[in-house]
Amino acid sequence: MEDNKALRSQNWFGKTGKDGFIYRAWMKNQGIPHDEFDGRPVIGICNTWSELTPCNAHFRDLAEAVKIGVYEAGGFPVEFPVMSLGETLIKPTAMLYRNLASMDVEESIRANPIDGVVLLCGCDKTTPSLVMGACSVDIPTLVISGGPMLKGHFKGKDIGTSDVWRFAEAYKLGQISQSEFVEAEACMARTQGHCAVMGTASTMATMVEALGLSLPNNASIPAADARRKVISQFSGRRIVEMVKENLTLSKILTREAFENAIMVNAAIGGSTNFVIHLLAIAGRIGVDLNIEDFDKFSQHIPLLANLQPSGEHFMEDLYYSGGLPAVIKEMSGIIHNDALTVNGKTMGENCADAEVYNRNIVATMENPFKPNSGIAVVKGNLSPNGAVLKPSAATPALMVHRGKAVVFETIEDYHERIDHPDLDIDENSIMVLKNVGPKGYPGMAEVGNMGIPKKLLEKGVHDLVRISDGRMSGTGFGTVVLHVSPEAAAGGNLALVQNGDYISLDVPNRTLNLEVSDEELAERRKNWQAIDMNITRGYVNLYINHVEQAHLGADMDFLKGKSGSTVTRDSH
Ligand code: FES
Ligand code: MG
Repeated sequence: MEDNKALRSQNWFGKTGKDGFIYRAWMKNQGIPHDEFDGRPVIGICNTWSELTPCNAHFRDLAEAVKIGVYEAGGFPVEFPVMSLGETLIKPTAMLYRNLASMDVEESIRANPIDGVVLLCGCDKTTPSLVMGACSVDIPTLVISGGPMLKGHFKGKDIGTSDVWRFAEAYKLGQISQSEFVEAEACMARTQGHCAVMGTASTMATMVEALGLSLPNNASIPAADARRKVISQFSGRRIVEMVKENLTLSKILTREAFENAIMVNAAIGGSTNFVIHLLAIAGRIGVDLNIEDFDKFSQHIPLLANLQPSGEHFMEDLYYSGGLPAVIKEMSGIIHNDALTVNGKTMGENCADAEVYNRNIVATMENPFKPNSGIAVVKGNLSPNGAVLKPSAATPALMVHRGKAVVFETIEDYHERIDHPDLDIDENSIMVLKNVGPKGYPGMAEVGNMGIPKKLLEKGVHDLVRISDGRMSGTGFGTVVLHVSPEAAAGGNLALVQNGDYISLDVPNRTLNLEVSDEELAERRKNWQAIDMNITRGYVNLYINHVEQAHLGADMDFLKGKSGSTVTRDSH
């Protein structure tokens, strides 16, 4: 062990006199013996456990497993809660609070006697918020994901979160009843864990593994599998070593690690939300990454993992087939194999012995499930700073499409009119939804994959080109253009689209254009007014005034970068 005084926790627990008394005495009311304060690594376990975040409701158990590992390695574990963001309950959208939770995480780590931290992440936003906050402090950090649910079974069929959208359509058409719908709820969410498909939570778990921030196999071990506890215990042992090695986040989060994450995200058909979260993380750690990089590094990557919503299977199937290391090994010819990971080994070393046990789940680069995957970034006068689309979840025939806009000014406008029999819409129309971006919703809600009107569903039309400044659930699918930047509420041209305007989308050429002249747009702009949210105080007001646009990661301008881990003043 190196000089104990090097550990930041000794600036609290190693003190003599009044300060040391105060720092230690109250901790001792938890039954902590005096020798725990002797300079051993203090490991924070940053827990997003909450009964309001059902995907993370089993995290107290995982924390206990981490503690066992920390003790085994000679460390001193301290579990602490941070704001927990559950996707399903939080209104108007959990994304509104991602940056707030990241502030909680950052300040909690820095303000406390912690030498290394384990981040317990699960439901979508709990991963980026914790990683972002930790990046701004930059001490040794290791991520454990909560793991996916086991797949659901309903009427003889395997189901997961992507079926919510299918059930919703069937319900609209009267094909399933309300009582069947209720029955499906319990069939789908039958075990602990996060969404079982390659939605945003699984995308984030994959992202941290591909970045090198977790032990191998972290992404796919099911929450209900005993090996989820084992990897937690191993993580507890390892973080103590990482403190001794001073293996900080910035040593792992290099530009190469980010490029690896983008390539792996393409191979597994990850969520479009990956783009804004990875950009925000890069912004915190100080790696230069931009939206074009997502297209550049994923353009030639095929879909290797046959997982919903791009494919057919579930996260547990990926685990049984060899897990993420098996996918990454298939990519060994293109990824940065020498990127360092938290276990002190390189990505290439971690994946060298991985085997694929089921070629129907993990394909080869030569014979992939789909030739196109990843994230396409389209630009044009409708999205000068970019918009994104996920080709593997879209309809091939709509990838080049020109159609007339059917415009919804707000989400309320959409709900009011979408099923009106007189709505002027057909299979060639392009649905446009405004004011659902970072400032406009606020919080950039997952409403971009707006449902198709009933009258078209009845005609058998299940996909239309849809364009908005919002996001889409990682479990969603369709030809959905998202994250239009600048957003309507910030005065982007999206705000000026009118019913009947022609829009052309050309994914192969990466363009998105509104066929309206600059003169006409300038004329329309004279009458445009930003939507008034009537929000004058509190966090949401701070958010609206400081949130950046989607192509920059939707972080707040004043949160970019890091402040390090030093605190010079004592509290008394
Ligand atoms: Fe939590 Fe899907 S709702 S991961
Ligand atoms: Mg989601």
